Amino acid sequence: MISLKDVTKTFGKIKAIEDATFSVDKGEFVFLTGPSGAGKTTILKLILRDYLPDKGKIFFEGKDIVRLPDKYIPSLRQQIGVVFQDFKVLPERTVRENVEVALAVKGTPLSEWKKRVGDVLNLVGLIERSSLFPSQLSGGELQRVSLARALVINPKMILADEPTGNLDWDTADELMDLFEKISKEGKTVIMATHHRGIVDKLKKREIKIDNGKITGDSESPKRKAKAKEKPVEKKAEEEKTKVKAEVEEVKEKKE
Ligand SMILES: Nc1ncnc2c1ncn2[C@@H]1O[C@H](COP(=O)(O)OP(=O)(O)OP(=O)(O)O)[C@@H](O)[C@H]1O
Ligand SMILES: [Mg+2]
Repeated sequence: MISLKDVTKTFGKIKAIEDATFSVDKGEFVFLTGPSGAGKTTILKLILRDYLPDKGKIFFEGKDIVRLPDKYIPSLRQQIGVVFQDFKVLPERTVRENVEVALAVKGTPLSEWKKRVGDVLNLVGLIERSSLFPSQLSGGELQRVSLARALVINPKMILADEPTGNLDWDTADELMDLFEKISKEGKTVIMATHHRGIVDKLKKREIKIDNGKITGDSESPKRKAKAKEKPVEKKAEEEKTKVKAEVEEVKEKKE
């Protein structure tokens, strides 16, 4: 789904990301972890084409987005839902209106709004708070509004930058249940986080970054199994060798 190849991004003398290479499959759930300033947000922004790298390629569904002409950037972003630490909800709009904004930006026909907004608000458990304003909501609820807004455009992937950064443990835990649910439904999730408790609890793939460099990648169990599978040709070759050896053995015995 997304793949970085030797990506470097500098800001003046600062190497925010250096020679980063990794790929994430469709439906995978990946944590990006590392100390403050490691480069986690920079990676998310590179995927969103908020930043262009100095060097390297970034493939989204097989297309190098580094070379994507500017006029196609909005359509790239329509395929990616984004959730931030500070929620980024519009204070003067109700919960429902905050979610509708995403549909307006996407140009979804008005006739579809009611059902789609209703569906995502139900999913995140906020349907009864649809007409409230952000100032009337708790932190966890605000984050669920931003998740609903990210999901309503039916993105292929969700990028989350410290989504639990402003939440207490129980609220963070509840939010992560929602992320797991979304991931199980087939959406790819890439989440930058400092929250060790959550990373340890969810046992997903973890890509570690330090000082702009990828220092570790605990592949997901699914990926590991896939990597272990032998390619078909190799299996066939091994089978042939085995049969050959058996034939030789029979021959030897006869002689
Ligand atoms: N727009 C920018 N201009 C200049 N320097 C930047 C910019 N964005 C990021 N940097 C620098 O790049 C490095 C990586 O920053 P980044 O925000 O990606 O880190 P991070 O891992 O997300 O940190 P945190 O956990 O604190 O959010 C930092 O040294 C930062 O100062
Ligand atoms: Mg960051």
